[in-house]
Amino acid sequence: MDNGSSTNGRVESRHAGPSGSAASASATVDGVASAGSSASVAASLVALSHEEVATRAREGRLPQRWRMRIKDAPIFTLGAEDLVLRQRAPVAGDAICLISGGRATFRRVLAIDGPRLRLRGDVAPFEDAWDTSTDGEVIGCVEPRIFDQFVMLDPVAITRSNWYAAIAAAHALSAKKRVSRSFGKKVEARFTTRILSLEDWAGVRAFWLEACGDPLPVQAHEDQHVVGLFDENGVLRGATIHLRFGTASYSAFTLVDRRFRNQGGGRAMIEHAVKHARERGLTLCYVHIHVRNIPSILAYKRVGFHAVRWWRDESDPLLAAERQWKVFELTL
Ligand SMILES: CC(C)(COP(=O)(O)OP(=O)(O)OC[C@H]1O[C@@H](n2cnc3c(N)ncnc32)[C@H](O)[C@@H]1OP(=O)(O)O)[C@@H](O)C(=O)NCCC(=O)NCCS
Repeated sequence: MDNGSSTNGRVESRHAGPSGSAASASATVDGVASAGSSASVAASLVALSHEEVATRAREGRLPQRWRMRIKDAPIFTLGAEDLVLRQRAPVAGDAICLISGGRATFRRVLAIDGPRLRLRGDVAPFEDAWDTSTDGEVIGCVEPRIFDQFVMLDPVAITRSNWYAAIAAAHALSAKKRVSRSFGKKVEARFTTRILSLEDWAGVRAFWLEACGDPLPVQAHEDQHVVGLFDENGVLRGATIHLRFGTASYSAFTLVDRRFRNQGGGRAMIEHAVKHARERGLTLCYVHIHVRNIPSILAYKRVGFHAVRWWRDESDPLLAAERQWKVFELTL
């Protein structure tokens, strides 16, 4: 890159201004643009990763303006998007960056009452309260994009509508799957379930990789029980992994091959795992389910689980609205 330097993958570039002269070059001092066209100013911003933002915020070394690539964030983006952030006081409707639990995250400001902010993700189940005098300061405001300017018209109504629309879409998708299973070409399967042993673990990992494309993110360990779901040919079509914590059984991973869903296999597997937990003398089964994972919620409810609370992490108060997990329990 012209006149640029790269450190640890981060590029801090200095581009010539429109005249191309050295004097008109858009120099940066720790990300503060001093001259040049808007295009060259944008190019000269310091690009920071999430980790660098968190570190610099902790050390009080954030630039006045910086660029940050975000994706799957609590605020709306078109895929991965480069946002420009600036240190300034937020106003209602702003998308802001904060540090929660040591990591940088984003929220929409719904309203400001002195040091207290009412916040919400653009698609989030509930509002977050944030007190800038006790919970931590706002480290940057996103320079408003067209979408942000639209949300500023009525951030409360727009974020709330986003959530209702997302919930409606999740229900519609679940119903569509249900209907297409009923009317589509049905795979006939008479399932059996059994408790799997450590020798079966390689098969479980292979199933997981093939069924969802990602490796199973857990290793076999002693305090677990795994139930496998088999078709009439004895082929593994599903698995549920329960981890034991004290007298409770945590249903950590459950997956049915998508070609075999909606035929009672998931329910049979979960029922078997619950029965096994009861036989082992455990007193509680619980699971965390994303609130828009309607098929999973219905499958666990069918076995008797019920929602008790939102999942939260006290060390990271903003994480609950991002994970969007509800805790479902079944007393054994
Ligand atoms: C959740 C999952 C394991 C359910 O497995 P399944 O074999 O499709 O579930 P079942 O056919 O046994 O259905 C059990 C109950 O759930 C409900 N259900 C499941 N899918 C449903 C859907 N799309 N719409 C409505 N109800 C549904 C029904 O009440 C059903 O009981 P019923 O058929 O006796 O009325 C499966 O959908 C899956 O693997 N999903 C992806 C991974 C995942 O989300 N895991 C859970 C994370 S906590």
